[in-house]
Amino acid sequence: MTAPGPGAHLLVSGGAGFIGSCFVRDVMGRRDGTRITVLDKLTYAGNRVNLGEVEADPEMAARFAFVQGDIADPSAVAPLAAAADAIVNFAAESHVDRSILEPAAFLRTGVDGVHVLLEALRAETERAGRGERSLAPRLLQVSTDEVYGSVDEGRSVEADPLAPRSPYAAAKAAGELLVRAYRVTYGLDAVTTRGSNTYGPYHHPEKLIPLFVTNALDDLPLPLYGDGLQRRDWLHVSDHAGAIAHVLAHGVAGEVYNVPGSAELTNREVVERLLALLGKPWSLVRTVADRPGHDRRYAMDGAHLGALGWVNRVGFDEGLASTVTWYREHESWWRAARRGDWDAYYARQYAERLATSSAADANP
Ligand code: NAD
Ligand code: DAU
Repeated sequence: MTAPGPGAHLLVSGGAGFIGSCFVRDVMGRRDGTRITVLDKLTYAGNRVNLGEVEADPEMAARFAFVQGDIADPSAVAPLAAAADAIVNFAAESHVDRSILEPAAFLRTGVDGVHVLLEALRAETERAGRGERSLAPRLLQVSTDEVYGSVDEGRSVEADPLAPRSPYAAAKAAGELLVRAYRVTYGLDAVTTRGSNTYGPYHHPEKLIPLFVTNALDDLPLPLYGDGLQRRDWLHVSDHAGAIAHVLAHGVAGEVYNVPGSAELTNREVVERLLALLGKPWSLVRTVADRPGHDRRYAMDGAHLGALGWVNRVGFDEGLASTVTWYREHESWWRAARRGDWDAYYARQYAERLATSSAADANP
């Protein structure tokens, strides 16, 4: 079992999404000979444009391949796993609100899909055991702090019990428990990361920061759930992708690594900062009905990852400012992401909430 280094061939599932595409752009940008095949279903959240920088660069494009397909489809996964030194699995349905409206797709990708990846990994590990390939591949499963549930005080450590509270979080917890079981039972080389709330360029406009930035640019109302005092620890996407690459290269098989952010803030504090950057008034903010089962706070201890030698590089104020600038400069990207099912989703999620909303008190 050897962690993949420069020149390895990585299978990156979900690599056309927000964090996966950042990982692909950053790893390919190292120009160290690493080859990447992306397997992505291109759901509403996946966008091949996110990989345009890689596909347009002849040197990177020569080391890159894109396959449209589903991680829950064994016939798509098996041949790609056979050619890979490692699999990095970003693929998931990732939006908590959508998981509350319609959980089924979350289970299909988060549970059945992870199971298919693990069966492929198991087959490749057996092939390595028979000498049919030199080394067994490693799997890095990208998970989330949401598996710990709401953490009112203190910071979650990796050994804490899992207590997910949304269908999204439950699917992610189930996926990582399958990874753990396959590691223990079949001796697979697998590591898991639990990342914090991530923000940055190419973030789908359904999530808090890009939704509020893009709505504010259009002077549309900003629907703040409940009292807006929920707390999140914000992690820049380049730090999340960098931490995943670091764990892929240096993580110990069977281990789980928290990836905390750089700034624990209430949602109100985040909204105040982004409105200041945009020069837009607080009067855009509307208090709307809360998310059912809304987790009050996430906070993780990062000592285990720190001991592996990883430190975040991007502070929140700097990261938020550059993110707001990115959305200002990439209007065509976020307007395109608001096509397809966007209007139907937005109406289902927000029409009733906004109709019964009230002006948000600036100083509650
Ligand atoms: P995203 O929704 O932007 O991207 C998900 C990608 O997976 C998309 O490209 C989509 O097309 C693809 N996909 C979905 N189902 C698929 C399937 N069955 N087969 C193949 N591809 C499929 O999500 P993201 O925010 O980039 O999150 C990536 C991963 O990181 C997810 O596993 C998520 O749970 C985890 N995570 C996200 C955050 C965050 O704040 N965004 C934090 C911690 C962990
Ligand atoms: O913590 C990691 C998780 O972070 C990831 O695993 C998820 O994939 C990712 O979506 C994110 O989950 P959250 O639910 O924390 O992110 P979201 O951007 O949906 O919401 C952030 C906070 O903002 C949360 O307290 C809910 C609130 N919110 C969100 C939206 C979309 C609002 O008040 N109004 C909104 O319209």
